[in-house]
Amino acid sequence: MTILITGAAGFIGSNFVLDWFSHSKEDVVSLDLLTYAGNLENLSSLNQNSHHHFVHGNIGDRDLVSSFLKKYHVMAVIHFAAESHVDRSIHRPEDFIETNIVGTYRLLESVRAYWNDLDQEAKKAFRFLHVSTDEVYGSLNDKAPAFSENYPYEPNNPYSASKAASDHLVRAWFHTYGLPVLTTNCSNNYGPYHFPEKLIPLCILNALNNKPLPVYGDGQQIRDWLYVQDHCSAIREVLRKGKIGETYNIGGWNEKTNLDVVKTLCYILDELKPKADGSKYENQITYVKDRPGHDRRYAIDASKIERELGWTPKETFETGLRKTVLWYLENQAWVNHVVSGKYLHWIQKQYS
Ligand code: NAD
Ligand code: TYD
Repeated sequence: MTILITGAAGFIGSNFVLDWFSHSKEDVVSLDLLTYAGNLENLSSLNQNSHHHFVHGNIGDRDLVSSFLKKYHVMAVIHFAAESHVDRSIHRPEDFIETNIVGTYRLLESVRAYWNDLDQEAKKAFRFLHVSTDEVYGSLNDKAPAFSENYPYEPNNPYSASKAASDHLVRAWFHTYGLPVLTTNCSNNYGPYHFPEKLIPLCILNALNNKPLPVYGDGQQIRDWLYVQDHCSAIREVLRKGKIGETYNIGGWNEKTNLDVVKTLCYILDELKPKADGSKYENQITYVKDRPGHDRRYAIDASKIERELGWTPKETFETGLRKTVLWYLENQAWVNHVVSGKYLHWIQKQYS
């Protein structure tokens, strides 16, 4: 079974491709536009792997997508490609509308045309798995129960609104056209290959470079963290056993305030890479202006995927975070390549 992974050179997509090859010898077609967030270096260990086919292109390019769906006899699509950073969506929503909404629509149409021409058996076996986020549900107050799959959609920023729109399109392509879709809504991921514009990798790199660790507002916002490989294993389970047309929430029951996350990182770094002058990394924590429309709390109720598909995460927040810090310490070459001129331009714009 050949699978198509969109956004395969990004953070979660590349972790998924590597994870897939550690469990399977089936062919993978990786499609990525290589925006600032896409990095082929993440997939360089597959350069000699004849089962891996990389295509540089846009999910919205109907001719391109149609041609390789046929060429490789694709039997499942895992759709990761997106603009994914909330702060960037606030500065420039247009890319989010274009890729997350229009791009997903065009991809669905290319896939639907291809799927319509498959024979009955292949049609039945085919899957389109749409990877989405808990942010579509909006913000919880401190005492509210975690988001279940039935929670209403209340997105509050351009990123989450564009992801919510794409979820609705995927749902409609199932109900209207019968396309065999699955949707997953996952909490915040962290782990290797995470682009250092997001909280955890940004703080690891800033800590090591003796720069401020920027905490928005009071730092008491809550996110529910999942190690990226646990997200990958959940997606594999949904692809294998998920019921078509259904949504599965994915999370690790790891609610933490942002301040706790940054402090925990500092403790791990104090142990693994103590500062030469004996001072603590925590001293670098700096409170900065809050994000407009900043959601206060996300929390995922993952009981459906646990109960129906038997999936549970392997890592706790502490074990996953330690692995992540070690990965960044051991992969300085990757970090040095990523932190290029364009990246510095973003950091200056966002934090000056
Ligand atoms: P990312 O920004 O690291 O990667 C996105 C990838 O998509 C990049 O490689 C980029 O080049 C590619 N891409 C962008 N536009 C494209 C286009 N038009 N055509 C083809 N490729 C394109 O994002 P990520 O963190 O890996 O997130 C992947 C998916 O998972 C997204 O859909 C995101 O909404 C979802 N998600 C992310 C998280 C998280 O914490 N990061 C949590 C839940 C869900
Ligand atoms: P982020 O990693 O951007 O993910 P998301 O916005 O998708 O949840 O941010 C995680 C949390 O950390 C979020 O509440 C915003 C906060 N944050 C900071 O406090 N400082 C920062 O420099 C960044 C990038 C995020």
